[in-house]
Parts: sequence; structure tokens; C-alpha cells
Amino acid sequence: MSTNRLESRIGALTLKNPVICGAGEHTMTAEAIRAALRQGAGAVVAKSTNESQAAKDQLDRTDYALLDGHWNPVPWHRAGAQDATLFCRSGLLQRGFDGWIDELATLDAEARASGSYVIPSLILSDLEQCARYAAQIEQAGLRVLEVNIGAPHGEEAAQGAIRLERDAERIGRIVARLRESTALPLWIKLTGQSEDVAGMAAAAQAGGADAVILMGRFMGFLPDLDTQRPLLGTNAAVGGGWALPLTARWISLTRRRVGPALPLIATNGARNGLDVARFLLAGAAATEMTSAVLTRGYAVLGDAIAELDDYLRARGQRVEDILGRAADSVETYQQQASRPGHWTQFAPDTD
Ligand SMILES: Cc1cc2nc3c(=O)[nH]c(=O)nc-3n(C[C@H](O)[C@H](O)[C@H](O)COP(=O)(O)O)c2cc1C
Repeated sequence: MSTNRLESRIGALTLKNPVICGAGEHTMTAEAIRAALRQGAGAVVAKSTNESQAAKDQLDRTDYALLDGHWNPVPWHRAGAQDATLFCRSGLLQRGFDGWIDELATLDAEARASGSYVIPSLILSDLEQCARYAAQIEQAGLRVLEVNIGAPHGEEAAQGAIRLERDAERIGRIVARLRESTALPLWIKLTGQSEDVAGMAAAAQAGGADAVILMGRFMGFLPDLDTQRPLLGTNAAVGGGWALPLTARWISLTRRRVGPALPLIATNGARNGLDVARFLLAGAAATEMTSAVLTRGYAVLGDAIAELDDYLRARGQRVEDILGRAADSVETYQQQASRPGHWTQFAPDTD
């Protein structure tokens, strides 16, 4: 048995720890990816790309607002950012595919030396092109492929630039086509904007996914009280620490639906190492952290690893000991012992 209590298995792959730096504007250059690797992340997912010029052009129209619990702006990289909500619209990498993939292959070779991974990410536009890119990524020597088929901006971006798939049958067919195109471990990232996230995950598994990443952010709309116009001028994706229980619920429901054999990876809501522990307990073998790194810096990753390690050490446990532990003991409302009169203490004061 390994001496590393943080080791986590994602199918055939072993991560040195379950803290993954998720894809975003902070993983768009070689130096940025190296900064995340230096913090000891189990893996770093590069900013996504695809063939759509409209998706690349959209990067020039991005905008971001970090907000407190009353929807007032919070400065980035300061106290308070940890609890803030990020409201933003994003676009895709503007670099050419061939040069980017060669650079990621070099970075992944560097990552291998420290027991980590650099993972390329595709966002679905045209399926056949996505399959060709997947094959090219394998040929370039990269070791894992992530494909996001549910980016929240799908319904706002130019037609077809970013596809947001919710239909289980289509998801099964898309994943099966990608599965044909590469033997790499295939991680499929799904939207949370669905009434049946577990059904989508089951379809991805049936199509041949090696792991499923749950779940993409929601779209929101926020009126600005000063301008009386929409904040940022548009609808935009929204996320915060408040999303953790929503994501954790779908992780645990998916574990129940498909069983523990399909590795689940959490995204959407983790802000520190204890949140990674929460996602482990819900059944996610690893957690991607994105907004926390973007808004507070790469040290968030190192801090999260240390926090998770402290949590496990204090309990004499390993990552594998707690995986799915809370999910497997969830009860229905009916199974709860009744506690007569318990609710009365919360009744509002009527004096
Ligand atoms: C500014 C920004 C850019 C993002 N870009 C990508 C991307 O290129 N590809 C992708 O799969 N997800 C992207 N995401 C989604 C994140 O990787 C992540 O799934 C999401 O933000 C929820 O996790 P979090 O609560 O840790 O931020 C982006 C998120 C943000 C905030």
C-alpha cells in the first residue's frame, strides 16, 4: 500500500492527490500551468479549445464580476473573495490547435516528473472535428483527455460554437464517437442545468467515458441597481461556494444510480481543502477547483492539499477510506426518526 494518504484512483489512473486545477483563464499559458503544477496539484486542466472562430472571438467579449452575499462587488485576490460569487461570461483559447497541443505535451512531460498530469480540454462544437482533435491529442503523447459537452455559455454563444448537451441519448452517441477516436482515458464534463444529471452521467458511461465531471455552472441574470440594466449587460454563468451542496447531491445521486465503479470528479463549489473532503464524502474521487484559483491565486491549490491532508491525518484516514462515505449513508425523509415538536423552536417570535 502506498504511503501517500492523498492518492486517488480515477479508473486506471492514480492521482497523487485529488486536487485538480480546473480549466479557465488561469490555465491559458505555459507559465500559468507551471504555476499550478508548482503548487502540487494532482492534475491541471488546460483552458479549453475547439475549432470555432466564434468561440475564440468570444474571449474578447468576456467580463467578470465578483460579488458578496448582497451582490455588491468584491475586490479580487483579497479577503472576502473566498466566499464571493463569480458572475461572468467566458470564451475559448485563441491559440492555434497544433502549437497548443505540442506545448501541452511538453508541459505534461514536465508534470510526469512530479507525478502530476497536464490535461488538454476540448469543448464540443462539431463532433467529427472533436473526434479528429481527440486522435491528435493522443498522437501528441498526452495521457488524458477532458471533453466538456455542457459549457454553460452554449445557449448564449454564436450558434454551434459551444454545444450544451442535455439529452441522454445524444450524450451516449457523442461519447461513443469520441471513444472510437481515442484510447486515452476520456473524462466527460456535463452541465448541471438539467433535471437528470445522473441520467446524463449514466449515458456518458454507456458511451464509454472513463470518468464523468459534475457539474457545470448555472446561467444567471442579475439586475444592477445603479444602471437598472443587466450586470455585465448579458446573462452570464454564475457560481460560488453555495453551489457545493447542489453539486454534492448530484454526485451522490449519480453514485447511487451508476454504482461506485464509475469515477466521478466534482466541479462547481469547492473553495478549499475541506470542500474537497466534502466532495470525497459525496463520492467524487477528485475535485476540480477553478474560480478559487482564478480569484485568489495558485496558492489556493497548495493550501487545499495541505488542508485535506490535515483533515485525513487527524482521523487516521486515507482518501480511499472516505470516498462516498456520506453518500452511502444518506437516508430518505421517511427513514428519519420522528422528533415530535422539534420544529417549534424555529417558529418566528410573535410578540
Ligand atoms: C472564467 C472561467 C472560465 C472557464 N473556462 C472553462 C473552460 O475553458 N473549459 C471548461 O471546461 N470549463 C471552464 N470553466 C468552468 C470551470 O472549470 C468550473 O467547472 C466551474 O467554474 C465550476 O467550478 P468552480 O466552482 O471551482 O469555479 C470556466 C470557469 C470560469 C469561472
